[in-house]
Amino acid sequence: MEKNPIEAFFDKLASCIDEKVLIKLTISNQRSKSSDLQSIIVTLTNLKRGFRLNFVYRHTTRDITKNYEFDEGIGIIRKALTEDFFNADLFSNKEDIRLVSSPGGKIKLSIQKPTLQPVTEFHHDHIKSRLINTTGNIYLRELGIINANWEVRREMSDKFRQINRYIELIEPEIKDLTLPDDYQVVDMGSGKGYLTFALYDYLANRLGKIPVMTGVEFRDDLVKTCNSIAVKSKFDQLKFNSGTIEKVELSHIDILIALHACDTATDEAIYRGITSDASLIVCAPCCHKQIRKELNVTSALQNIVKYGILKERQAEIITDTIRAMILEAYGYRTKVFEFISTEHTPKNVMIVGRKTSKENPEKEKIFRDIAAIKSVYGINQHYLEFLLA
Ligand SMILES: C[S@@+](CC[C@H](N)C(=O)[O-])C[C@H]1O[C@@H](n2cnc3c(N)ncnc32)[C@H](O)[C@@H]1O
Repeated sequence: MEKNPIEAFFDKLASCIDEKVLIKLTISNQRSKSSDLQSIIVTLTNLKRGFRLNFVYRHTTRDITKNYEFDEGIGIIRKALTEDFFNADLFSNKEDIRLVSSPGGKIKLSIQKPTLQPVTEFHHDHIKSRLINTTGNIYLRELGIINANWEVRREMSDKFRQINRYIELIEPEIKDLTLPDDYQVVDMGSGKGYLTFALYDYLANRLGKIPVMTGVEFRDDLVKTCNSIAVKSKFDQLKFNSGTIEKVELSHIDILIALHACDTATDEAIYRGITSDASLIVCAPCCHKQIRKELNVTSALQNIVKYGILKERQAEIITDTIRAMILEAYGYRTKVFEFISTEHTPKNVMIVGRKTSKENPEKEKIFRDIAAIKSVYGINQHYLEFLLA
């Protein structure tokens, strides 16, 4: 007797999973057109704790990603195909399998030669569970990081790694913050928006807390492109504003980001964060020209600033130390650490301040300590201190 097509389909699916030849399963064509869930994409992923089925639930405005053990995942697929969707398209190294149900209850299974590039091994990208998904992520495609098959383009693999690293670092800082429902995230000097989109994606689709997010950038061309990508990606609460960090009007700021904003633009951004009482301030400073120009050392330390490159490094250390100290003075528990390896960019220090108290009782002492540092290096003023004065 010929096998029921549904059971034949699940036999095929089970063997594709067992043999690790499943490329992708797309479950689509909703039974109820009013459902917000548009489709489900299932792939195999190799995590530290072993192989799992990775599900991307594609909703109208956001994607939600989950990993399941094989049995649980197959159960979810079975339920989705009987209750929520009519079609399943399974792509494997061996064949393409299509299961189509009709509203009248007819079910058809068809099998064809494989059409997608076979998975030969689960290389590094698959092995590591990444916080940013490639499948279905339109902004990554529009930014040129992935190709039409949702795969990371070879020449953009460093950028993709950097984006994931950034989200990995920021995750523990954001996860347990108590934020209002309409919490506002501002990315100062958002540039091409790589990290702005990734953070919005993480907050909306991983954490399930959709932010009101603004990228601030004075280059109109970048703002225009980023706004159009946000629309295409259906990131409805992400807008890019062509203004300056100093002057942009914002009702409030809960999380302030400033990555590689040039020179004193980082100080302007920290200033906006502190004066808005932001819960979290994250910045990766860029060039440190202001303090470099001010260095005027006459003491025994003068040889430390004799050689150009060492002077530059000294200026970086002083600038960022004082930034961190000022954040502490304003009630931010502050960490300074390396963001990514220097082989990707030398601008790799990240300063993260988390608001823990309204006022630091040590504020005056901190400012005295800052004055002592400035005096040793003959510095007249640090720009952030000037802004706050
Ligand atoms: C080096 S890019 C970094 C872009 C992005 N944050 C990243 O890390 O990929 C710095 C961006 O900040 C913008 N920028 C610098 N100063 C600014 C200011 N005062 N107001 C607005 N945008 C500024 C620049 O136009 C540039 O696009």
